[in-house]
Parts: sequence; structure tokens; C-alpha cells
Amino acid sequence: MSNTLFRKKDITAMLRDAGSTSGGLKRTLTATNLVALGIGAIVGTGIFVLTGQAAAQYAGPALTVSFVISALGCIFAGFCYAEFAAMIPVSGSVYSYSYATMGEFLAWFIGWDLILEYLFACSTVAVGWSGYMQSLLSGWGIDVPPQLAQSTLAHTGDGWVWTGSIINFPAVCIVAVITVLLLGGIRQSAWVNNVIVAIKVLVILLFVGFGLSYIDTANWTPYIPENTGTFGEFGFSGILRGAAVVFFAYLGFDTLSTAAQETRNPQRDMPRGILISLIVCALLYVAVTAVLTGIVNYTELNVDAPIAVAIDKVGKGLAWMSPFIKLGAIAGISSVILVMMMGQSRIYYAISRDGLLPRLFAKVSRRGTPQNATIFAGIVTGIIAGLLPLSALSELVSIGTLMAFAIVCISVIILRRTHAHLVRPFKVPFVWVIPPLGAFFCILQMASLPGATWMRLIIWTLAGFVIYFTYGRKHSLLKK
Ligand code: ALA
Repeated sequence: MSNTLFRKKDITAMLRDAGSTSGGLKRTLTATNLVALGIGAIVGTGIFVLTGQAAAQYAGPALTVSFVISALGCIFAGFCYAEFAAMIPVSGSVYSYSYATMGEFLAWFIGWDLILEYLFACSTVAVGWSGYMQSLLSGWGIDVPPQLAQSTLAHTGDGWVWTGSIINFPAVCIVAVITVLLLGGIRQSAWVNNVIVAIKVLVILLFVGFGLSYIDTANWTPYIPENTGTFGEFGFSGILRGAAVVFFAYLGFDTLSTAAQETRNPQRDMPRGILISLIVCALLYVAVTAVLTGIVNYTELNVDAPIAVAIDKVGKGLAWMSPFIKLGAIAGISSVILVMMMGQSRIYYAISRDGLLPRLFAKVSRRGTPQNATIFAGIVTGIIAGLLPLSALSELVSIGTLMAFAIVCISVIILRRTHAHLVRPFKVPFVWVIPPLGAFFCILQMASLPGATWMRLIIWTLAGFVIYFTYGRKHSLLKK
């Protein structure tokens, strides 16, 4: 593989190119801005939806421990992301970093994995949005007909079955609306982001603050439900599997690390931004999980809008809060869909610019958006969000992203040796400790995911190889 390692001049050219096309990034962000950005991109379906399902299926009340384990993996990986992002400030995230440093084939492998992450994450978040929207509407006496209210397929012990629903219509609608917004060239201003962050955090604090007095500690016993005899269903393996599933709740901080080049003092503020936003989110998540599993027994939480269920369960005492929580969840989740859809279309754009996907995805409209890539992202995300259930989707996102993070952690160590000369505005501290620990935690969580999820990852990866060898390699700009 002669092209796998780029030479120094390739990276220098790429950095110059990045500088010219971005118009020169300004260093304006402080650690506080980074924390707000981070929370904006992180808090969404994970906490508002997956918490209930992971507690009900895998970890019970001990899901609080799962959240801590998962946060550790993210913090270590976050440092590694920041080193990459500060070193190679181009759009396209890890795909572009690996293209510059590890060559086309590995970059495709990672890029394909990132498509998996963003595509399925967008769909998952849209399904979560649908759950809260329906819960809000039914509070107002409007019920979505059952044929349009849930995914077409569900995964049971017997395999895939038809749920009786035609499509998850609200999920398709929100994807369509966001696609149209993105086509208009909408940019999330810092102001809008700050307002949404404030609403999300307020709603969570309200739930925790008022929910505390409704906790029935009997619901926390047993704290770690006994393993059912199947790996991953409660007990210690359940805590690990729970961690891998709720890992999804922390996604979004990788977006944060891509702002390294726009940070005033990346060496000091990037680790602070990543650490503080992940710690704030971890604390919020642990608190919500504790209150949620304290109000409702974990066995009843396998639903699409668990926090709404908890509030409804309390009844009159918290009924006033119900529409606020639901609206807050809907607003918060919408901003996550927006960021993720944008990320997804940028990945198609970056890969297609290099010739590995059809060139039409690299076309930029007069409004400055990758129009075809955005429309394509909208169509595929809408179809997947309409057809598939949330748990199957989120586990696939988790395994794909954990793999990408593990690769990033390992690459940081390799590149310190192979590309020692590169200027690194931010360097991971204790490079022989943090990246290996990051990779370890990610691989540990991957190992706890079900065989079916591994199978889907393998099929996805093989499909990627087929596309690369039948299309990408022949059209690669690098080869030409
Ligand atoms: N962390 C994001 C969420 O939970 C993806 O929705």
C-alpha cells in the first residue's frame, strides 16, 4: 500500500488548502463558549429516551454506573480528537485527518464508519423526537393514528417483525423539516445555541429538582439486578452493555473538538472545554437516571419517552411540568438533529470531493451548502428513521462510533512517531496513558454489545469495502 502514509509535503499542502478555503479561521472561542457548544451538541435523545430503555433492558438502577464508565471513555477519546482537530483543521472530521495522515484506504474505512455514525444517529434522534412529540400531542388530546405512530419494523427474539405501522410519520417529518432548513443555508448562531442549551439544562434541572421528592427508594432495590443468565442482561455485564448503549448520549463532543482551530488558547481551553462539558453532562445524566429509576420501576421504562412517563406517573404533583419537559426535550433534540444532519452531509461532501463517492455530492449550492449531499442525507435518514426502531439503531451507532474513537486514540500514538514533525497546537497529555486507556474503554464497551450488533457492523463494513473496490478506487482523485 504505497499511498498509505502521506509525506510531509502532502500535509503541508492540505493545511495551506484548509487555510485558504476557510478564509482563515479566527481564534475567538473561550472555554465557556466551548462548554455551551458542547452541551448543545451532546444533550438530546440519549438522556431523554435511551436512559429508560437501557435501564429496563440492561442495567436497572445501576445505569448510573454505566454513565460514569461511558464518560471516562469519552473524556480520553475527546483529548485525542482535540489533538487531531488542532493539527489538521479541515472539514470532514476524522475522515480528513486520516486521509492526510494514513492514506486513502484507511480514510475510506473510517469515513464509511462515520457515515454509519451520523446516518444512524440522525435517525435515532429523529425517532426519539417523534416519541416526545407524540407524548406532547396526546397531552393536548391529539393522537397520531397507530399506523403512522411507530417504526414499521421491530426486532424481537424471533428476528424482525412488522409492527402493523406503515411508517413513523413524525420522525420522517422532522427529518424533512431539518433538511429544508439546512438547504436554506441555516447556521446555528451562538445565540440560538445558548438559548437551546439553557432550555435543555433548565428542563433537566426542573425534573431532577422536583422529581427528588417523588422517589420511592424501593425502586432502587436491587440496585444491580441479578444477571438473567444471558451476557449483558443485568449484573456486571449489563452495566457494561448499558455503558455502550448510553455512550450515544455523549456523542456530539467530537463536534466540539473540531473547533480547536478557532479556540483562543487551545492548549489550555480545549481540554477544559471537553472535560467540563462531559463532566456537566455526566452529572446531569447520573442525576436524571437516579431520579427516573427512583420514580418509576426500571422494568416499566422500556418506552420512547421515559421522562414523560415518570412525570405522568407522579400525576397531579408534577402535571404542570409535563408540557415544559416535553417542549424542552423536543427543542433540545431538534438542535442535535440539526448538528448531526449537517455533520452527515459534510462527510458525504468531503469523501466525494476526494472522488471516493460520486462527485455530485461535492456540489455546493449558491447558498454555500452541499445541496445534493444534504438532500441525499435527508432521504436516507428519513427512510431509516421511518422504518427502524430506536434500540436497533442506537446500538449500531454506538458500536460504529466506539470503533472510530478507538482508531482515533490509537492513531494519536502512531502519528506521534510517524509524523513527529507536525505542529500540534494541542497535545494530549500523558500520551502513553490517555490514548491507550481511551482505546481500552472503547473496545471494552464494544465487546459488551450483542452479537447481532456486531453482525450489522461487519455487514456495513463489508458493504463499504465493496463500494471502495468497485467505485472509490477507480474514481479516486489521488490515483488520478
Ligand atoms: N448525544 C446526542 C443525543 O443524545 C447524540 O441525542
